[in-house]
Amino acid sequence: MIPFNPSPLRKMGFTPGTVVETILSTISSEGTPNVAPMGVWVQPGANLVIRPYAETQTARNLLEVPEAVINITDDSRIFFNTAFKRRGTDTEVFFYDPAKSVRPPRLRGMLGYVEVEIEEPLKPEEVGNPLEYECRIKEVEAPSRLPQVHSRACFAAIESVIHATRIVALSDSDPDQTERLYRLVQEYHRLVHRIAPNSVHSGVVDDVLYLVQRLVYWL
Ligand SMILES: Cc1cc2nc3c(=O)[nH]c(=O)nc-3n(C[C@H](O)[C@H](O)[C@H](O)COP(=O)(O)O)c2cc1C
Repeated sequence: MIPFNPSPLRKMGFTPGTVVETILSTISSEGTPNVAPMGVWVQPGANLVIRPYAETQTARNLLEVPEAVINITDDSRIFFNTAFKRRGTDTEVFFYDPAKSVRPPRLRGMLGYVEVEIEEPLKPEEVGNPLEYECRIKEVEAPSRLPQVHSRACFAAIESVIHATRIVALSDSDPDQTERLYRLVQEYHRLVHRIAPNSVHSGVVDDVLYLVQRLVYWL
């Protein structure tokens, strides 16, 4: 294991006390890779904690192979496609490259990679709560790129993808929460079409709205 040096992580925006949104690659014991958006808690001292719900493929893979790659991107399309595993056209197929120190692969073309081993769960599993795993960092590849301007459209598009994943999980059991999240998705859709009408982000919020409307109107 390489000595933990927080500096490249800090440069990539892993700010202690913050949840950062990433794409986690994991692998099953049979060698099938999986990618999914996952929040990473950056704890004081810069320890990283991930919290996958037990019903996700990510959680199942981590039980079999306790290693992961934290792939870093700010592309809202990658959040949508990996959350809903949409494949088809060029940009929606997942291409992988081998990681340097763990078995799950890297998602090709990301802005940076953090390869980790997963420790034992911090708490026993509780119904309705995610599992919590501390990560032991094995490899960090820091990006070198120009500073990026902030766009509310990027935030809003990724936020709508998160809400869509919650709507998928809750639409059968919690109509009030589903309704609340659906209204937020509509709100972000309006916002993105106002500030970034012809962008990758407007494409993502269109896809999200289409997906959740099929679910909500089905109820
Ligand atoms: C930005 C973002 C962050 C997310 N963070 C988490 C998380 O921390 N834990 C979790 O269980 N699901 C999280 N989700 C939802 C999962 O990505 C979603 O349920 C996904 O379909 C799980 O895929 P899997 O079953 O292949 O693991 C997040 C979704 C988004 C868009």
